[in-house]
Amino acid sequence: MKDLDPKIAAAVNGENGEAAKAGTRKCLMNRRQFLLTSGLTTTVVMVGIPGMPEAETPAVVSTYPRKLIGKLSELKTDEPLSFEYPDEGQYAESILVKLGTKAGGGIGAEEDVVAFNYTCTHQGGPLQGTYKAADKALGPCPLHLTTFDLTRHGIFIAGQAYQSLPQVLLEVDGDDIYAVGMFGLIYGRYDNLQG
Ligand code: FES
Repeated sequence: MKDLDPKIAAAVNGENGEAAKAGTRKCLMNRRQFLLTSGLTTTVVMVGIPGMPEAETPAVVSTYPRKLIGKLSELKTDEPLSFEYPDEGQYAESILVKLGTKAGGGIGAEEDVVAFNYTCTHQGGPLQGTYKAADKALGPCPLHLTTFDLTRHGIFIAGQAYQSLPQVLLEVDGDDIYAVGMFGLIYGRYDNLQG
């Protein structure tokens, strides 16, 4: 899987995560896609931030059964689409966007298609409608003005939040785009799942 940070990929794949210890799931990967069986796993990894070679940050990576959320051929640069993941409960709404510039965790030929949860990690402010094409960012949040960089795994670049925006992990199967997991914890939830 070329598109994910190797440590995230290892966690998703279960090579050194809880899934591997439990032996509960399997994964088959190539350069462009990985196929997940059903089942839920969560682990914590340290990942680098694109553009910040010295920096590493802890992140919770959770995988779920994959969900079809769009098609590569239907995406237009800087025109976001919405979807819900990993369930349809509170705070599940997310953005799928083709940035037009390479991004951490990006998929597609240009590695520029990313997805993020729409809920601000500070106090749950709604980030819908705040995509800024010029900055490839979400924000400022209407509550306390945090802005998140979508090219660098949703790291905050201004404002009150101190946690990155949860990134939806994506895979491509032909023209289909699937959500397969979460990189980070959704605001207001204990394990990214409702209830
Ligand atoms: S809720 Fe978004 S910055 Fe406070």
